[in-house]
Parts: sequence; structure tokens; C-alpha cells
Amino acid sequence: MNYKNITVSNEGLIATVTINRPDKLNALNKQVIAELGDCMTQLDNDVEIRCVILTGSGDKAFVAGADISEFASFSVDEGKKLAAEGQQKLFDLVENMTTPVIAAVNGFALGGGLELAMSCHMRVASENAKMGLPEVSLGVIPGYGGTQRLPRLIGKGRAMELIATAQMMSASRAEETGLVNYVVPQEALLEKCQEIAKKIVRNSPTAIGFAIQAINAGFDHETNGFNSEIELFGKAFGTNDFKEGTTAFLEKRKADFKGN
Ligand code: COA
Repeated sequence: MNYKNITVSNEGLIATVTINRPDKLNALNKQVIAELGDCMTQLDNDVEIRCVILTGSGDKAFVAGADISEFASFSVDEGKKLAAEGQQKLFDLVENMTTPVIAAVNGFALGGGLELAMSCHMRVASENAKMGLPEVSLGVIPGYGGTQRLPRLIGKGRAMELIATAQMMSASRAEETGLVNYVVPQEALLEKCQEIAKKIVRNSPTAIGFAIQAINAGFDHETNGFNSEIELFGKAFGTNDFKEGTTAFLEKRKADFKGN
């Protein structure tokens, strides 16, 4: 995969995607969003990849937001289109990937940067990370799902405060509130994400994909999450991974999941 603004490296079944615009603190412009969307789609369809780590280049920022210079002169319709296309092409796409994505938040995760981290299935932050949705300080609101995903992760009252004050949250506070799963020293960040990823890739990728779908269904107002769980639970019984997992357990050996 050849991209201008992102790099992808694979280690076994784990891919690491790095957003590479350090001079602009990895801000998300149209091209970065398109490249990330394309890359994530390809990784999700790649049976050799069972977990993705997403991070930013440099030691200062994960992503400092949507590229402000790109939308500063937008009209009402252009603003609406920016949010709709971004949500569809990247943020919803990442959330609905059946390959788990871990955000390695290595510094500022602001605006679209925090929204991107929140679209990932889990987050690990470095001690220097700072997270916030400062859009109202620019006269706009979060448009890449931030008003929806932040309250789900930290609760409505805390989300209201973070969004209305436009302040940044420290990594330790983010861990306390459940916004991130762990906080580690910056030099240990990718190692911690790899440690989680290695535990993930031992398991059935098919079952993990079903679990992600069932969990996400519970947050979709038009879907009954419990019914989705019943459907997907049943569907799992028809997979080779289920046969392999149960047989391996009974034969007292390690399962060799093929992801089908
Ligand atoms: N969009 C476009 N460019 C951005 C950006 C963004 N969201 N965030 C940072 N940059 C650019 C800066 O313009 C600067 O570019 P320049 O060197 O060509 O002037 C470069 O990245 C470095 O940023 P700088 O502001 O000089 O770094 P800093 O350490 O002084 O401050 C931040 C870091 C994150 C506090 C500050 O960059 C910031 O507030 N960024 C915007 C955050 C934001 O509001 N995001 C939400 C957008 S909806």
C-alpha cells in the first residue's frame, strides 16, 4: 500500500498505521481521510491482518484535529457535506470494521483526532497525551461523531463539560473517566498496544468480528442489540472457527483459527 500521508507496517498478524503529517501535527485533511479510509478498508478485508494499531507520527500529536485551513471558508452546505462524507468514509467505517483497531494516542488528540480515536475499538494513551473537543472555541461543533461517541464513553455530563469548555483532558483523567483503557510512558505506548493486539490475534477473528457487530448494535437506535447478539451467537455455530475452537479445547491443544 502506497500512500502520501500514512505509512503501514505489518508484524505478523498485526498492522500498524501511522498518520504522517508531523509538521501539521497530523491534522486530518481531505487526502488523509481518503487515504485512511482506503487503507482501513483494505486491512479489514485482508485475512492475514487480525488487529490494527493506529497512531500519529512524532512525539507530539496523535492528530490535532481536522485541518482548520481546509474548512475555514465553508458554507452551510459545504460544512454539512464535510461532516457527512467524513463520517461515512472514515469514522463510521473504522467503528464498523470487524478487525479490531487500537488507537495509540501518542500526544494531542483534539477535535477530529479525538473523534478518530473514539471511532477505534479501544484506546491506549501515552502520559503526555491531551484530549479534547475544542470545536466550540472555533464557533463550530464536533462533526465526526464526537457529540455521540464521547457521551457513550464517559457519560453525558462529563461530555457536556468537555465540549462546552473546549478544555483538554489529561491522560490520567482520560483513564479515570474510561476514555482510554490504559496510560503508559510514551516510549512504552506501541509495546503496550502490541501486547493487547497479541492477545487479540490468538482468538477467532470471525468471533471477534461478530462480537464487534453485536456490541455496536447496542448503540444503534434502530437495532435491538440483544436480538443481534442472538443472531450472531447462532451464526458463530456455523463457522469453522467454532469447530476448531471447541475441538482444540476438547483435544487439549491450541486452536488454529483460519478466520472463517
Ligand atoms: N489544522 C490545521 N493545522 C494545524 C492544526 C489543525 N487542526 N493543528 C495544528 N496545526 C498546525 C499549525 O497551524 C502549525 O502549522 P505552521 O507551523 O505551518 O504554522 C503546526 O501544526 C504546529 O502547530 P502549533 O500550533 O504551532 O503547535 P503548538 O505546540 O503551539 O500547539 C496545539 C499545539 C495542538 C495546541 C495547537 O496546534 C492547536 O490548538 N491546534 C488546533 C486544535 C484544534 O482546535 N483542533 C480542532 C479542529 S476542529
